[in-house]
Amino acid sequence: MIFIFLGAPGSGKGTQATLTAEKYRLTQICTGDILREAVQRKDALGLKAADYMTAGKLVPDDLVIDIIEQRIERANCKRGFLLDGFPRTIEQAKRLGKMLKQRNRALSEVFYIKVEEKQLIRRLTGRRICPQCSKLYHIEFNPPKRDELCDICHIPVVQRKDDSPEVVLSRLEVYRQKTEPLVKYYQKKDMLIPVEGNGKVDEIFREISQKIDGFLPGN
Ligand code: AP5
Repeated sequence: MIFIFLGAPGSGKGTQATLTAEKYRLTQICTGDILREAVQRKDALGLKAADYMTAGKLVPDDLVIDIIEQRIERANCKRGFLLDGFPRTIEQAKRLGKMLKQRNRALSEVFYIKVEEKQLIRRLTGRRICPQCSKLYHIEFNPPKRDELCDICHIPVVQRKDDSPEVVLSRLEVYRQKTEPLVKYYQKKDMLIPVEGNGKVDEIFREISQKIDGFLPGN
């Protein structure tokens, strides 16, 4: 099983990909998390990516394609994996197609999570994250149990730099220009599964699970 989670910033790709990975024991590959870790470490990849990310722009295609190429070779991707935040350009999608073909593997489905723009802005500007374990929170919809401290690590949750209102608007514009064309791209390949993303986390996850269950052998 190889799935893509496609959607605007804040559509809940990460939230749904994490739940799916846990339930179906698949490896989640989130390019945003991989890049943020590299920025924190200040390694070569992080130094190249940092300015793009802070400005809400996409990191150059070659950098992220290299990341994916290395990750899918790992043993934990043999059984299957899900891509959260990749591909984000037509070029990335084409290169992914080639990579899979070379390895005799194939994409199963692309879940396209659709959310209204007003809601996207509310979700992104209210998002908080644990700097240690990366657990996601939201100040309104899913606050930490106690005093803005991570429920697991008990340290203060923080706001991502690119979740400030100005950067959020520029990320949404980049999404419309560069990533939204992938909807038609995968539709033409008959792989796109639209998912209504305005509802509650568990309702959305139920819809995704039903689609995956239908896809499993024997169904
Ligand atoms: P990345 O980290 O992938 O950010 P993004 O695509 O902007 O997506 P987000 O993580 O912001 O949102 P999400 O859809 O995962 O929503 P989430 O589940 O967190 O990328 C960051 C940067 O890295 C990019 O800007 C770019 O620079 C670079 N990059 C990454 N991949 C790249 C690539 N392939 N090519 C080039 N550059 C790349 O949910 C958001 C909030 O809403 C949370 O607080 C959550 O708790 C809440 N929430 C979720 N679902 C619901 C719900 N149903 N109801 C209420 N609240 C909800």
